[in-house]
Amino acid sequence: MEPHKLVLDTDPGVDDSMAIALIANSPEITLHSVTTIFGNGPVSLSTENALRVLDIVGLSHVEVFEGANKPLLREFGGEGARVHGSDGLGETRMPPSPRSAESDFAAIHIVNSIMAQPGELTLAAIGPLTNLGLALSIEPKISENVKEVVIMGGAVDVPGNASPLAEANIHNDPEAASLVFGADWPLTVVGLDVTTQVLMDAKYLASLAKSQTPTTDMIAAITPHYLDFHKKYRSETTMPVHDSSAIAYLIDPDLFSTKKLYVDVITGEHPCSGQTVADWKNHWGKEANTNVCLGVDADKMLAMYINRVGGSNK
Ligand code: BDR
Ligand code: CA
Repeated sequence: MEPHKLVLDTDPGVDDSMAIALIANSPEITLHSVTTIFGNGPVSLSTENALRVLDIVGLSHVEVFEGANKPLLREFGGEGARVHGSDGLGETRMPPSPRSAESDFAAIHIVNSIMAQPGELTLAAIGPLTNLGLALSIEPKISENVKEVVIMGGAVDVPGNASPLAEANIHNDPEAASLVFGADWPLTVVGLDVTTQVLMDAKYLASLAKSQTPTTDMIAAITPHYLDFHKKYRSETTMPVHDSSAIAYLIDPDLFSTKKLYVDVITGEHPCSGQTVADWKNHWGKEANTNVCLGVDADKMLAMYINRVGGSNK
């Protein structure tokens, strides 16, 4: 199969950075470009971190386009610092990249790239969906011209992580998410249903660190804060592998079991805002709009991650 030509929309972010490391070590994916979004921190921080991480993992030729700094219709809460550190990378204060972002706005870049190569580009979003919502509003025809869309987001049949019912990426901009679920495009959702089944613990991370490459040294530096957050606030000794799971789906969809469902997002000022509601019994009589990942071979995925990222000399 031809490698995916991927536009990655991201808010690095500890697990976003680990997802970029997986991309860098996967021949099934050619990274076309990166767009950034607020989420785990302000968008300026996501941009700085995207450039830093791309340099470290050997993708310093990949261009970065900065995107939205706030949700479409609400203010940005900015809770990500508690999870990812005030620098988004586990309080490591890594040196800045010598590079800067390109001048085009992320949503414009997404539109121009997809329209210039009809049917060629895959879009993966592992942060809030504002850039995708804006891109769809600017040029609705991107839905017909993108090859595939994969998002890390949502909690279809499990509790949320940002509210009782909502997953953080959707919770951060439910109105944008609603545009993404409402578009007529081939959408796969890799949400908490599967990402909370793929768990890395200190022992796994120590094995990964043994390679002592620039990439695994970065992961060894940024993960302790993330692991501590899960211990302190969730009483968990493991960290869920959110964003890399969306990349793993692109690499090997057979790792996942999926179901096609109609999914809607609760928007507005509502206690359930950001909830992804699946119409399991087709009460609304609508055609399925989402390929939802519901199961994952976690052992296989964890082995894939360590073999690729730990086995490389980057
Ligand atoms: C998602 O929220 C962010 O904190 C992570 O980077 C991931 O994309 C998990 O809910
Ligand atoms: Ca993310």
